[in-house]
Amino acid sequence: MPVHRYAPLLCAAFFLLFVIAATQTFAGEQLNADQPLAGTKSGDAKAGKNVFIHRKKGNCLACHVVTSLDYILFHGEVGPPLDGVGSNLSEAEIRLQVMDPRINNPDTIMPPYHRTEGLNRVLVKYKDKTILSAQQVEDIVAYLKTLKDE
Ligand code: HEC
Repeated sequence: MPVHRYAPLLCAAFFLLFVIAATQTFAGEQLNADQPLAGTKSGDAKAGKNVFIHRKKGNCLACHVVTSLDYILFHGEVGPPLDGVGSNLSEAEIRLQVMDPRINNPDTIMPPYHRTEGLNRVLVKYKDKTILSAQQVEDIVAYLKTLKDE
């Protein structure tokens, strides 16, 4: 059989290799929490507070106490209180914790709000979607920065 007959097959094989390589590269993607997430405008603390409170978005009060939000009932205590978090942690530390707390603590029960990798038992409609958008993460970071020690 003349060699050129194999050309389409070779092309297909190379394409497959390329796809595999690309997938591997993205799977090892590093988190960069030092800068605001790509494509976002500067965080809006007021919007962030709403995402933080919202039971179907951040639902952060399910696990964290914030004293200034004590007009809302039922703060969980599984996580540490976030009073003063804006004084205790840097912006990058807050962003990293919200994006993927597993980086700091592999056994954490806090959900990774901006990661799709390594999630188990994800409903089909949430597959490959992050819980919060990049802008919502930036808004939450801006809100948490306002929680300063008195
Ligand atoms: C299911 C419980 C749970 C939910 C929901 C949750 N967290 Fe957490 N969070 C924790 C726990 C537990 C820790 C302690 C560190 C760890 O185990 O990761 C923590 C730690 C933190 C910290 C670090 C605090 C510090 O002083 O070091 C921040 C900031 C934080 N969470 C923000 C948030 C935000 C913002 C949300 C909502 C978008 C949220 N958390 C939702 C459980 C939760």
